[in-house]
Amino acid sequence: MARELKHIVVTGSQGQLGREFQKISMHSPFRFTFLSKRELDITSGQSQVTLGTLQPDIVVNCAAYTAVDQAEDDKELAMTVNAGGAEKLATICADLNVPIIHFSSDYVYHNRLRRPLKETDPTRPKSVYGKSKLKGEKLIQKVHPFPIIIRVSWLYSTFGKNFPKTMLQLAQERTSLRIVADQIGAPTNARDLAHSVIEIIENKQSDNWTDISGVYNFSNEGSTSWYKIACFIIEYAELDCLIHPIKSIEYPTKAKRPRYSILNLSKFKRTFGGGISKWEESMKICLSELLNER
Ligand SMILES: NC(=O)c1ccc[n+]([C@@H]2O[C@H](COP(=O)([O-])OP(=O)(O)OC[C@H]3O[C@@H](n4cnc5c(N)ncnc54)[C@H](OP(=O)(O)O)[C@@H]3O)[C@@H](O)[C@H]2O)c1
Repeated sequence: MARELKHIVVTGSQGQLGREFQKISMHSPFRFTFLSKRELDITSGQSQVTLGTLQPDIVVNCAAYTAVDQAEDDKELAMTVNAGGAEKLATICADLNVPIIHFSSDYVYHNRLRRPLKETDPTRPKSVYGKSKLKGEKLIQKVHPFPIIIRVSWLYSTFGKNFPKTMLQLAQERTSLRIVADQIGAPTNARDLAHSVIEIIENKQSDNWTDISGVYNFSNEGSTSWYKIACFIIEYAELDCLIHPIKSIEYPTKAKRPRYSILNLSKFKRTFGGGISKWEESMKICLSELLNER
């Protein structure tokens, strides 16, 4: 029997996505506990005690090591958090018999396909970050009988550090910017993702999660490049800054990034229903909030 007021525990609550969950929790019919890294380090043995005491109905794991370039030098830490920590958390959830909703990345694909990527397509991560996220997925699936793993691309939010916020700042400081135009993907507004996750939980009629367990893609709808996003932001914010398109090779980074990362959203939409906003619409909402804060 489903209980009336579900208790959702969110780990990594001070990150972009965690803070979006905090923001929308006020208008949600659930009881939330938000745990920052200081309150619950997912790599620590203390997690079991903390979660056991809290008795969650669902755990939403927003904790992750997300410094993609830094991870090339910090391999051990990236693996410890994104693989080991995720496994530890999923093991605890399995022991408590509660669902875990976990987030992964489009960087796990990094294959040669040039059409929207399906969850069943080959995974060939080239970066330490991508490898650590894929390992996390696999370990979670090994230890937990009914996890939900959501692969997300190009996440941004009004919180934390991200591309739109960096663009708004740089475009005010400089007269021109050179932005990579040959990486194709779709940005994801963390608020849309958080809303969709809450909807999944809301629509779940029973406590049996096996039927919807699995790997899902999620992003906003559409296809673009970092260059086009930068142009969109500058135009929307009415900033006087020229954006020049460049190739990835002209902007070398420690971690290799996929050239093509459009995610096929069919499985997510088919399983959970509801629409997903176009990236331009969601980006406008975020930009308008950021500009109003100034
Ligand atoms: N950002 C993106 O572009 C992107 C793209 C695709 C997928 N994703 C995935 O989406 C999810 C959410 O990403 P995000 O952008 O919200 O990440 P974020 O802003 O970096 O937040 C991650 C949070 O996890 C915390 N954390 C790190 N290590 C931890 C540990 N051992 N125990 C507990 N908490 C820990 C971080 O704390 P500190 O900051 O104090 O270390 C931070 O508050 C992640 O799984 C990420 O891999 C992100």
